[in-house]
Amino acid sequence: MFKTVEYKDGKVRLIDQTRLPLEEVYVECDNYQDVARAIKIMQVRGAPAIGVTAAMGVALGAKGIITKDFAEFYKEFVKICDYLAGTRPTAVNLFWAIERMKSVTDRNRNKPVDYIKDVLEKEAVKIREEDISINRTMGNYGQELIENGDTILTHCNAGVLATAGEYGTALGVIKVAHEKGKKIKVYADETRPFLQGARLTAWELVKEGIPVRLITDNMAGYFMGKGEIDKVIVGADRIAANGDTANKIGTYSLSILSKEHNIPFYVAAPLSTIDIKILDGSKIPIEERNPQEVTHLSGKRIAPEGVEVSNPAFDVTPNKNITAIITEKGIIKPPFKDGIKGLFK
Ligand code: MRU
Repeated sequence: MFKTVEYKDGKVRLIDQTRLPLEEVYVECDNYQDVARAIKIMQVRGAPAIGVTAAMGVALGAKGIITKDFAEFYKEFVKICDYLAGTRPTAVNLFWAIERMKSVTDRNRNKPVDYIKDVLEKEAVKIREEDISINRTMGNYGQELIENGDTILTHCNAGVLATAGEYGTALGVIKVAHEKGKKIKVYADETRPFLQGARLTAWELVKEGIPVRLITDNMAGYFMGKGEIDKVIVGADRIAANGDTANKIGTYSLSILSKEHNIPFYVAAPLSTIDIKILDGSKIPIEERNPQEVTHLSGKRIAPEGVEVSNPAFDVTPNKNITAIITEKGIIKPPFKDGIKGLFK
């Protein structure tokens, strides 16, 4: 089994997701700037995976600070945290993981700097292990919503590659249902412009032996209309306190199509993706990415020079279009505001 991200011999080792599915190669980062670059150019992507990787970047950066004086260490440490926090704005797991690393340093401010560096390394490894077990628990809850014979549509990649490993969020639910012997079939949206569905979800599911059919994004309505889709399951990058959910661009349209066709629309995400400080989806920052992702395919221009381009990487699905949110603490249904409050009690 491939590993999305791990901390090995004082380095952060990542499967290079920009090269999949054609090549299975790994990138090794031995400084925090390389970790930040890997997140920015999406060698690693997907909300939980970004969080885990950033935590490892913080640990790596802290190790490289040469001083025994806490005040000096802390000044540099905060700069490293800010640098990593500047990589991608939407997935809240990034900020969640960095805050968790900061609080480890704060709690140990009276201890020697070398001790703090060790604890930070251990914390990053722990965040990775926790994410794997959270996904397994979430999959177990979520599979209860899947019936034998279901055809499930998913968008982007919310699998092993989008998390610390082994299961994934939306694909974790699918994977556990498959392990339990339910006969299921997946329709994977190709997910323009970065093609996470075609390149990553299709790769993961083919590797797992889970039946998958790749479709382009604009085919979803067609197949729903023909009655071929029973359920939609997607991941999330940030869920507001009222359940509004930011996920890969195109998710909002899918939610409307699902509503029109009376198809249950599920979101699977860990608590680290829920941002209770944000009251509704309108406050979620949406990342605007390089126009080249739209004008080019595999490095080849497909649109005329000089054309104006928009490339928002995410959109927000309003809570009214979501049937249920699957978390590691169970499944919540509307009204999500109350359900989410309960999760954090
Ligand atoms: O731009 P990406 O590839 O990082 O976006 C990823 C997604 O939108 C995923 O659906 C989301 O992070 C959930 S991953 C478990």
